[in-house]
Amino acid sequence: MIYKKRRTEFFFSFGLLLLAINFLWLTSQAQTPGQRILINNDWRFIKGDPSDAKGIFYDVRPRVTDRNDNIVADTRANQTNTIVSDSGLKKWILPSANNFINDPLKHYQRPDGNPGGDVSFVQNNFNDSKWERIDLPHDWAINGPFYEGNNAVVGGGMGRLPIQGVGWYRKKLNTTSADKGKNVFLDIDGAMSYAMVWFNGNLVGGWPYGYNSFRVDLTPYLKFGGDNQLAIRLDNPNSSSRWYPGAGIYRNVWLTKVSPVHIAQWGTFVRSRNISASSAAVDITVQIENKTGSNQEIKVLTEVYSLDGQLRRIKKVAAFPGSVATIAAKEKQQVENSVIIRNPLLWGPPPSQKPNLYVAVTRLYQDGKIIDEYQSRFGIRSLNFDPVKGLFVNNKPVRMQGVNQHHDLGALGAAFNTRAAERQLEILREMGCNAIRLAHNPPAPELLDLTDKMGFLVIDEIFDCWERGKTPLDFHLIFRDWYEADTRAFIRRDKNHPSIIAWSFGNEVGEQYTADSGALVAKKLYDIVKEEDNTRLATASMNYAKPDMPFPKEMDMISLNYQGEGIRDAPAYAHLRGIRTSPLYPAFHEKFPDKLIVSSETASTLSTRGTYVFPVSNGISAPVSDSTGGDPKNKYVSAYELYTAQFGASPDKVFSSQDKHPFVAGEFVWSGFDYLGEPTPYYTARSSYSGIIDLAGFKKDRFYLYQSRWRPDYKMAHILPHWNWPERAGQITPVHVFTSGDEAELFLNGKSMGRKKKQQYEYRLRWDDVKYEPGELKVIAYKNGKIWAEDVVRTTGKASQLLISADRKTIMADGMDLSFITVKVADKNGLVIPDAANKISFEIEGPGEIAATDNGDPADLVSFASKQREAYSGLVLAIVRSQNGKPGTIKVKAKSEGLKESMISITTQKPNNL
Ligand code: GAL
Repeated sequence: MIYKKRRTEFFFSFGLLLLAINFLWLTSQAQTPGQRILINNDWRFIKGDPSDAKGIFYDVRPRVTDRNDNIVADTRANQTNTIVSDSGLKKWILPSANNFINDPLKHYQRPDGNPGGDVSFVQNNFNDSKWERIDLPHDWAINGPFYEGNNAVVGGGMGRLPIQGVGWYRKKLNTTSADKGKNVFLDIDGAMSYAMVWFNGNLVGGWPYGYNSFRVDLTPYLKFGGDNQLAIRLDNPNSSSRWYPGAGIYRNVWLTKVSPVHIAQWGTFVRSRNISASSAAVDITVQIENKTGSNQEIKVLTEVYSLDGQLRRIKKVAAFPGSVATIAAKEKQQVENSVIIRNPLLWGPPPSQKPNLYVAVTRLYQDGKIIDEYQSRFGIRSLNFDPVKGLFVNNKPVRMQGVNQHHDLGALGAAFNTRAAERQLEILREMGCNAIRLAHNPPAPELLDLTDKMGFLVIDEIFDCWERGKTPLDFHLIFRDWYEADTRAFIRRDKNHPSIIAWSFGNEVGEQYTADSGALVAKKLYDIVKEEDNTRLATASMNYAKPDMPFPKEMDMISLNYQGEGIRDAPAYAHLRGIRTSPLYPAFHEKFPDKLIVSSETASTLSTRGTYVFPVSNGISAPVSDSTGGDPKNKYVSAYELYTAQFGASPDKVFSSQDKHPFVAGEFVWSGFDYLGEPTPYYTARSSYSGIIDLAGFKKDRFYLYQSRWRPDYKMAHILPHWNWPERAGQITPVHVFTSGDEAELFLNGKSMGRKKKQQYEYRLRWDDVKYEPGELKVIAYKNGKIWAEDVVRTTGKASQLLISADRKTIMADGMDLSFITVKVADKNGLVIPDAANKISFEIEGPGEIAATDNGDPADLVSFASKQREAYSGLVLAIVRSQNGKPGTIKVKAKSEGLKESMISITTQKPNNL
């Protein structure tokens, strides 16, 4: 493939252009300028290979056994025990990478033959009617059952869910005679993992890395108007990840039908420059692909429309001058163009700025007919990175108040759902969060649509390891073959998103430890990133590399994990072994005075919502252990929010370190939400403890600590713990308060416990000697001497009723939209019983279903599909999903023995009625 760059060859005069557009618009009405069709519905699915699939695997993998010598991750599913090298279908899959390998000499040649062509599951006439009927996005593992115990097949690290092994998906595709002459591509936004695609019995290609989007070309095998059969095999290895990877085709799948001369996959790049209030220059590069055997002369026209908050077009604001280009047979060519937009509405993060968006609509014309249309949503914004003053968006300072987010959506698993992701972002926004680091893999494209729309800043990250693996079967096995293609594909897909401010090409990789050779790998990846996009920063996060090592030199931005605020350097950590560093912000700043420094991971504070363990540490940060903050019996960690992973730090410690080093541009907390897998410190649990918000989306106390710092103007005060401690009468029960005020007075049953003022580098107010007596705790917070906010916590009565509520009572009847329903166990006065664990059952009527339930307890191993669940710290969540095309009323009832039940109605409406 040869890339040619050519400046616009031909400019219309402005008047002529308008005429031309009008004419072409009219003539285009009858054409179908390419289609992108979502084909998520009505697939067939089965776990495991058929007996005739011998030899069908990607490549030989090392065998992984547990301590009893049982195989936990086999070399290949369905194979004998002998390892045969140079076997597998890898050689047929690798050519799928060619579009993303810049040196044509390095392109892979497809060998002869059609491996798998005789396997029963790929045949058009195979009867799959007994397979499970499913809609995508689909995560085959999320409903469990969970593996339990210490020697589980899939352990706590990967979420104890049955992700491992082979799964097959089949679907019939319809084509009509109108498709004749079209190119037809299958676009998969994420399949976990080692996808291989057969079409009408032919092996078309595939993509091993489960987090990237990829395309295969179905055109050569297509039967127009005939029976077309798609068969996709995934082979998801155990021991391949440090967290829950999900399993299956867990993102959207599209069929793209275009004319043989079309805008290439992810074929536009929109950038803006010279931005002021009165104007901005916008550049667009359009890559056109000519799949025909002859040269083609094409006109390219792009118009720009402003969009409203719902992404509806408001009006046309500019038209790029048209270009004419001749695209050589079987080649691709880039056409570049620029336009000035007057009085641009800039994209920037709220609350101080607005995330305004535009769409560039690019059309290709041939012989007066429109032959393709491509929409590129973008934002106009400038980014400046000042190593002393931090990040500037549109010349305004923005402190990064960020969190790390894994890809799973809690009880819904990896299967992407836009509403579930939006809800996460809404909760984070309420806390004052303005930035997200996508740890540690490319997200669903729709997540970036949300961050664009809502105005979050994003560090988009691709790898958790390079050549040096972290788990036996992770990406390191295929790094050498795929790093270039995966990195380029990752950037090409996402580069028009204004929310992305930096590309991260690695997280805590082993190459930090290998001096120059590790830095060389970093340089290789850095160069690829910059070749694809030099408008953003390129970085990789460092928990080990020090300023005088070769590794950090390869970064535009210094991204520190935990080292900035210091690792194991506070007194409570003195007894621990492992990396120990004093705060490294100053050393990095001195060594790299021209580079922005950010903490890409901070904290790793651990807690379970609403659980408190005594006695309470009197320092500001301590490593959790069974005797400090931990409750090994129940697998809980105290929510006083002082306890951390061994290398971590409490929020308070991080805040003080950041305030002492104001040149640091901000932080990304580990982590925003709890996620599946990595349940440090209790590996017999299923999900993490590090979230500020639990897996169900319920706020831990920590939420209010971040809110008090990140929304200093928002009047709030928050008391912890709860005040139901009958067994602690007369015992010391510390009371802590998080407030955006600067001072507060605490009252126990009306009696003042003293008024306290935050000292420099103090972020919570604490009354550590309160003796428990039932009744009422009340705090009055002050700011600048004036009353600012209040909070009250009361000892509750007995559980007597359930209280049901929904985040949204009207949702779309599209089979995807969700209502998140919370049930609280309350006393007769409506106070939530803070330690209630009553078993709650859900019943549902009408056009909806309970997609999952959860309670946020990391140790709850009841399947997420269950309609019955014990409350955890007084709360349970049910996620209700609408049915496609069936508007109506859904009634959800929650019941529990001995308690008054509660019911809620959810209305589902046709999308255009909302
Ligand atoms: C970091 C790592 C994250 C996560 C976190 C746990 O070292 O980058 O992926 O493992 O620790 O606290």
